[in-house]
Amino acid sequence: MCGIVGYVGARDINAVILAGLWKLEYRGYDSSGIATIYDGEIRIKRAIGKLKVLADVLDKEPLKGNIGIGHTRWATHGEPSEENAHPQLDCSDSIAVVHNGIIENYINLKEKLIAEHHIFRSFTDTEVIPHTIEKYYTDSLENAVIKAMNEIEGSYAFAVISTKEPNKIVCCKKNTPLVIGVGEKDNIVASDILAIVGLTRKIIYLEDNEICTLTKDSVKITDRNSNEIKRKTVYLNGKVLEADKGGFSHFMLKEIYEQPKVIHETIEKRLQSGELFKPFPLSIKDSELVKLSRILIQACGTSWHAGHVGKYIIESLCRIHTEVDISSEFRYRNPVTSGETLVIAISQSGETADTLAGIREAKLAFLKVLSIVNVAGSTIARESNDIINIDAGPEIGVASTKAYTGQLFALYLFALYFSRLKWITKDDDLALMLKEVREIPSKMQMILDRASQVEEIARKFHQSSNFIFLGRGINYPSALEGALKLKEVSYIHATGYPAGEMKHGPIALVDKNLPIVCIIPKSNIYEKMFSNIEEVKARGGQIIAVATEGDKKIKELTENIFYIPECSEILSPLLVALPLQLLAYYISTLRGLDVDKPRNLAKSVTVE
Ligand code: G6P
Repeated sequence: MCGIVGYVGARDINAVILAGLWKLEYRGYDSSGIATIYDGEIRIKRAIGKLKVLADVLDKEPLKGNIGIGHTRWATHGEPSEENAHPQLDCSDSIAVVHNGIIENYINLKEKLIAEHHIFRSFTDTEVIPHTIEKYYTDSLENAVIKAMNEIEGSYAFAVISTKEPNKIVCCKKNTPLVIGVGEKDNIVASDILAIVGLTRKIIYLEDNEICTLTKDSVKITDRNSNEIKRKTVYLNGKVLEADKGGFSHFMLKEIYEQPKVIHETIEKRLQSGELFKPFPLSIKDSELVKLSRILIQACGTSWHAGHVGKYIIESLCRIHTEVDISSEFRYRNPVTSGETLVIAISQSGETADTLAGIREAKLAFLKVLSIVNVAGSTIARESNDIINIDAGPEIGVASTKAYTGQLFALYLFALYFSRLKWITKDDDLALMLKEVREIPSKMQMILDRASQVEEIARKFHQSSNFIFLGRGINYPSALEGALKLKEVSYIHATGYPAGEMKHGPIALVDKNLPIVCIIPKSNIYEKMFSNIEEVKARGGQIIAVATEGDKKIKELTENIFYIPECSEILSPLLVALPLQLLAYYISTLRGLDVDKPRNLAKSVTVE
């Protein structure tokens, strides 16, 4: 999951490519590079570290040229270093390639190419691409790229320039996104629309196995047999331009604070009339929905946690058997697909390779797939039968925050609609629940207004080296998510556990140095959770509690309490998420870490 940008046109090549790479830095940030063609030669600059390092290099010594490709890297093969950074070159330094993905058969190809006297200068899988293109480059760059595509296996999107045909960028893709931006007298290609919208809003989504040639005046797409494909451009409108910090010190904090607005806007859009109509424009018919006997949710990371909460929501409101799988497990475990099953895929980026593969598996088994995404034009959105777009706006902080609560909210609306369709939730109960749903944004805001209380708790515990997060029922996945958030941005080891399971092992870890975050909102298992916490407290653990306003009893166990406003148990994960996100945020910043770009992580994981 690296980021690619290619540009051909008269604007300042350094500025255009760097502007695109800044927008793509969320995809990888351990090294970066840029290559242009000028005066018949490839000119190249590469740098280790964040994009700023490359920007400083280019500031001092800008590259010349009207055509160029750039890359921001998340290392998979070969450590972050200048020689492993992209662009990668062929033997004669006349072909430059930027690549996102993994070439699975690169070892075989590399051995063959070495036997044919190609000289390799990096440890990357990518380097086989320029050498293979070099090997097959006789008539045109496009034909050489097609021949290279025939040899390489894996997932890839790459862009190539060559000094032999200095006016064109050739790019192609398989299982990894690539978007073309069509300008007036210039054209651009990138991994994500975010890198393009500054230049043009006329977009073409390249499909798998397509090859695209960009010159300053033309965009031509062909298949792997060189047959031309006519594709209409799509005009982008909407929120794609919002990717700035808006006065906050970090994207993560801004995105945490955006949650009331995101949920409020969804309510305005989906629930205006006070009636619960089909909350999203789904093509799946009501008659098909009521026949379902099973729902299978598959997702990764934070989205998997949203799916976990979704299981509790759907089973409780719709009384339908719901399973949740991690996509990388789902895709290989030959899941049972019989019966009237709906697959729900959840992905903020809409590009996660494992989730996409899970969707393809499901479709091979003739199952319908409904995806919950935050990027409407993403590959997952395009390959699913139906989508729910959470419309949270771009999420730039690598640790997912507003996308998570947006996903939860989509699951609530879907389940409420479905529940009424099945006559499980009666009209009066539904009206009460919708009333509460409408109060969520203001309750979220109340939490954010007291963020300094979370900061105070963070100050007490930010030097701890381990954390446990405990929850029960629908807040067991909240505990998993709280732990994931903390480890992602603070590098502190944290584990989430169902509180009732502590006595079967993890309680052995408890001592006076261990902070234990206990999620204990008002619920029908409050007393059970309380006794679980007492057990931990008795062994010296330091309790941090997330409890409901007015809960005095919890003070018997700890003084480190963050109160969330009163709400029914089923909706509580929407509120509980916020103090946990804030805790992770403050601990990370107190430790002086880069909270928006934690080490080794990337926002969009387009590799297996
Ligand atoms: C990466 C991100 C996580 C995200 C996960 C799944 O690991 O850093 O924040 O939860 O991918 O991504 P998705 O886009 O499918 O939700």
